[in-house]
Amino acid sequence: MFSRRIFRPLLAMAFASALVGSAGVFSSAAQAQNQPIAPDTMAARVQGCTACHGVHGEGTDNDYFPRLAGKPADYLYNQLQNFREGRRKYPPMNYLVTYLSDDYLHQIATYFSNQRPPYPAPAKSNVSSTTLARGQQIVLNGDASKNIPACAACHGKGLTGMQPAIPGLVGLHSDYISAQVGAWKSGTRHAKAPDCMQQIASRLTDDDVTAVAAWLSTQQAPANPVPAPAGSLKMPLKCGSEPQ
Ligand code: HEC
Ligand code: HEC
Repeated sequence: MFSRRIFRPLLAMAFASALVGSAGVFSSAAQAQNQPIAPDTMAARVQGCTACHGVHGEGTDNDYFPRLAGKPADYLYNQLQNFREGRRKYPPMNYLVTYLSDDYLHQIATYFSNQRPPYPAPAKSNVSSTTLARGQQIVLNGDASKNIPACAACHGKGLTGMQPAIPGLVGLHSDYISAQVGAWKSGTRHAKAPDCMQQIASRLTDDDVTAVAAWLSTQQAPANPVPAPAGSLKMPLKCGSEPQ
């Protein structure tokens, strides 16, 4: 697990900095020296991202590299800012966005948000059917006895998120989902206050996290996988990143 989670990302990072350096984010240096550079399209600029996130932001088969495509632009923008300002920690990501302006981050976010690559086939889970049933229950109905709202209340029935800043939960690997919920529980991931996901994560046991992550990763994306319109879902908690 160690080599897969830590080493592979670093290897991809080496590719990424080569790409970013030659054709991408930092191409103005080459321009200044009058060197031939690749055409300055958005697709060329984000080449450094594709080693880990896929050419169209579809994600890769690495359990830890998330899909970006189709998530609401403001959600992606918030995350790029979070990495730049240390509210999320993953060194290759923190490094890549350190010197990028808000405007540039917004353009990148919009680009990936508009991509529509197909979703991966749903995962075959190796957890028990009882665990999957518990996961389904929490995602669709919550658990009132523990004050856990249904995930679908904010992430949508089709789990494709809501504009402007709630992400879809389909097409993500179960290891990625449990790592993110775990990061909120342990305080290494933060969103704008009130941080509703931090409150929700703190009410989930480790077994609950395994169950929701496993069930979510087995779900098929709906035929029209676009985020629900802004304000179309009545959110059970206030979230600082999703103004209502
Ligand atoms: C070395 C691999 C790697 C490279 C290169 C990389 N990323 Fe990431 N990215 C990740 C990983 C891993 C995460 C999840 C990190 C975490 O929070 O634990 C992530 C998270 C993200 C997120 C948040 C996704 C979400 O759903 O919350 C965005 C947005 C993002 N990356 C955009 C980019 C952009 C834009 C680039 C290029 C400038 C880029 N990434 C380059 C590995 C990479
Ligand atoms: C009250 C609304 C609300 C509810 C209920 C909710 N979420 Fe969220 N969720 C959010 C918001 C807002 C974000 C974006 C936070 C940010 O900007 O980082 C988010 C982000 C996430 C992410 C990060 C996705 C990524 O690509 O990194 C995961 C995973 C997640 N939620 C899982 C869950 C699960 C599992 C449940 C149910 C137990 C749940 N959420 C219930 C509002 C909600």
